[in-house]
Amino acid sequence: MRTDIQLADVQFAATQGLNHLRLKASYSLDRPLGKPDKVSVIITDACAARCTMCDIWKLQAHNELDVDEWKRVLDDLRAWLGPFFIVISGGEPFQKRGMFDILAHCRDIGIKTKMSTNGMYLTPSACDRIREVGPDFLSISIDTLNREVHDRCRGVPLYDRCVEAVVNLRRDPRIVLGVASIIMEETYADMAATAEWALGLGVDRVLFQPLYPTFATDEGMDPAWFERNPHWPRDPDAVHDALEAVRELKRAGKAVWNPDEHLVAMQHYFREPSSHPRPDECMVRYSTFNIGPRGDVNFCYTVDDLVGNVRTTHPRRIWESAHAQDVRDKMKPCKAPCLLNCYRSRSLRDQVAMFKLFFDRQGF
Ligand SMILES: C[S@@+](CC[C@H](N)C(=O)[O-])C[C@H]1O[C@@H](n2cnc3c(N)ncnc32)[C@H](O)[C@@H]1O
Ligand code: SF4
Ligand code: SF4
Repeated sequence: MRTDIQLADVQFAATQGLNHLRLKASYSLDRPLGKPDKVSVIITDACAARCTMCDIWKLQAHNELDVDEWKRVLDDLRAWLGPFFIVISGGEPFQKRGMFDILAHCRDIGIKTKMSTNGMYLTPSACDRIREVGPDFLSISIDTLNREVHDRCRGVPLYDRCVEAVVNLRRDPRIVLGVASIIMEETYADMAATAEWALGLGVDRVLFQPLYPTFATDEGMDPAWFERNPHWPRDPDAVHDALEAVRELKRAGKAVWNPDEHLVAMQHYFREPSSHPRPDECMVRYSTFNIGPRGDVNFCYTVDDLVGNVRTTHPRRIWESAHAQDVRDKMKPCKAPCLLNCYRSRSLRDQVAMFKLFFDRQGF
């Protein structure tokens, strides 16, 4: 664990702390007084897995930003936001041509990277490259400790490669490692066991994600989608108890990253997905900046109103535009029951915990 504080650590904490206060003011005055504190990128639609709860693999990757375009966008973001975290997802981000060049550029200019992966491309040589250029935080999707169940849900055998990669990467104490698991019919009974198993492998945190309507489909337009979705857990009492076991682990100090109120909200969600109480007010319109593979920007993937495009417009101009404010006004009454982790506002407590983890492991 590090004890020496560097200038970069102070700069990162000061920039984030100041923006947190500005965002609070944005929320209460309903005006964009701060800058986004969640910048997320869908770097590609390409994916060679065959998951049964996500149809992104059926999309055709086309007209996506190339490495040079991404480097320019990243430079613009860095100049506007100061040092910040970027979340990179997909599709499968390691299928993006030039992904390691993009990661190296982030590291060169002082952007911290977090990436979600299905693990397919985490060969030993890819792990070596990750140690050199990042991501600084790698979240590997493993839905359950049961190999056969995980590989069945993912449609291709990925479990062994994921486990080997965790063991390989854990030899480097600096990288922050996570496991992300979807709560569904096939996995919920083993949730607590999966968390303990993953933490035993050496990951820094586990995060649970409740099943959502199949990604890249319009299944969610149907209010009764869950009745037809084969992954939807059929016994809400049993899910409730399984989530209680996870809450118990968290109380015992295990690194379950979902806030307790999120786990409680999930207990309601699995009983009545359309009307569970939101754990917090939705503020994505002031906190979030999502960039798609072709540069399109939105504040929320569900409302998905186009705010602008980074291919043609500087991110700051998009954020501060009159059109962005129109979109925000339109989103304001939205009461959708959002439990996706990427939709949650980050509390100061979450941010301090994240800061501490990175400070201990690698600094900024
Ligand atoms: C869309 S994937 C992209 C990154 C990468 N391909 C992966 O699977 O980790 C991002 C996250 O969404 C999760 N996910 C996929 N389908 C889901 C669904 N229907 N409900 C909830 N989470 C889902 C994945 O397990 C993964 O952790
Ligand atoms: S969840 Fe990830 S791995 Fe599975 S199809 Fe979707 S993008 Fe691909
Ligand atoms: S769908 Fe969810 S995240 Fe999006 S605006 Fe509505 S409440 Fe917010």
